[in-house]
Amino acid sequence: MKWYKIPDIQPDGKPFIKKVKAGGKTLCLVGFDNQVFALSARCPHAGGDLTEGWCKNRKLICPVHRYSYSLDTGKGSEGQNDYIESYPVEIRNNSIYVGINSFWEKLKQAFK
Ligand code: FES
Repeated sequence: MKWYKIPDIQPDGKPFIKKVKAGGKTLCLVGFDNQVFALSARCPHAGGDLTEGWCKNRKLICPVHRYSYSLDTGKGSEGQNDYIESYPVEIRNNSIYVGINSFWEKLKQAFK
């Protein structure tokens, strides 16, 4: 897994939702409840931009049709049968780092 430093955003405890790029991916970075979460920015339902959404009950809500996804796991709410990718986040020296596996690393893990 490779770790990518996210520039220009300091985790100061205030809530936020930002679109960022890391490791060739477009991510939805969410500051919520004094934690930072990194999730896929594209809604799997019909391609809505999740960075235009909002958080409620530890879920990220899509602004288009209001599907919701767990901030902790990316799992869609009951009845949706879908998920968004979720990535590990570390705070180092007051900077945000997101861990992203390469395609080959993901493939290797799938066959373990
Ligand atoms: S596009 Fe996100 S809920 Fe439909």
